[in-house]
Amino acid sequence: MSVVRSVVTGVGGYLPPNIVTNDDLAKFVDTSDAWIVERTGIRQRHQASPDQAVSDLAFEAASRALEAAGRTAAEVDLIIVATTTPDLTFPATATIVQRKLGAPIGIAFDIQAVCSGFVYALSVADGFVARGHAKCALVIGAETMTRLMDWTDRGTCVLFGDGAGAVVLEPRAGEGTTADRGLLGFALRADGTKKDLLYVDGGPSTTGTVGKLRMQGNQVFKHAVINISEAIEAAAKGAGIAIADVDWFIPHQANQRILQGVANRVGLDEAKVISTVALHANTSAASIPLAFAQGVADGRIKPGQLLLLEAMGGGLTWGACVLRL
Ligand code: UT7
Repeated sequence: MSVVRSVVTGVGGYLPPNIVTNDDLAKFVDTSDAWIVERTGIRQRHQASPDQAVSDLAFEAASRALEAAGRTAAEVDLIIVATTTPDLTFPATATIVQRKLGAPIGIAFDIQAVCSGFVYALSVADGFVARGHAKCALVIGAETMTRLMDWTDRGTCVLFGDGAGAVVLEPRAGEGTTADRGLLGFALRADGTKKDLLYVDGGPSTTGTVGKLRMQGNQVFKHAVINISEAIEAAAKGAGIAIADVDWFIPHQANQRILQGVANRVGLDEAKVISTVALHANTSAASIPLAFAQGVADGRIKPGQLLLLEAMGGGLTWGACVLRL
């Protein structure tokens, strides 16, 4: 059966040049490099400069993804930005990126699913691309998470970083089999009763301020491995693939222990895990496309390979996605 698939034709990532090490943080908050590395695997994070907005990071990543795809901004007809740290309350950061790229009038909007945003955005973009409503889509995860930090809270401020990653999605004919290139399946989940475990304590309709990130880290940790594993198994089943056939696992980069725990639980070889948490820390919606870009750039991830993406974040939201590059 002939079908239209949404195929990733280009990947790009951007990290702001300023690097903040664990020792840098230990100068003003009661923590240590040893604690952070042991409990999270994080060694450093990138921090956007004060004059860099999240749309600037997104623009850089999007430009690199377009170049990798051999496309120009003039061809882009859909832009989705997954972000929890938009430039402004409105308009959508996607429209700002559209203007900065010089992309023509098309569809542009943001998705707010926090760390799960990129997986949610890919799934939404698939609806446009596979149904013929977009021919050249940019799906971007971009964050300036360091702007949401309470720098006196050692339980959160050591965990996050800034960055952006992007993919270009284009329609391609497939045979309707798991050998097709493109998005093959996904599973998205949300549980609003768990809001207090991870949230920002401000917003336009409540405090009128941006707010700071609050997290009960150990509670989130407990939910993470179990929830993510269920979504991975559902996405794999929907795609019709066996988890053992996955070439590369590209998880949301929150904590090295979670990455390994999930891989073990679903029976994935740890050697198949693309891990950037040590160098990027948790960049929320940007972490998956950044890790994806890293894996492609260093030659590990190759066209034709089967990829498994997953994430979990505030909401709680979580989800997984299977695609063949
Ligand atoms: O992207 C969204 C999803 N987010 C996540 O997936 C995050 C999930 N959670 C985690 O990664 C981990 O729970 C953390 C890394 C946040 C915390 O690790 P933990 O092993 O769960 O530690 P804990 O929160 O249970 O705290 C243990 C101890 C506490 O001290 P006491 O009360 O036992 O004396 C904390 O105060 O570690 C202390 N602690 C720290 N010590 C040094 C917490 N943060 C720090 C720190 N430096 N930065």
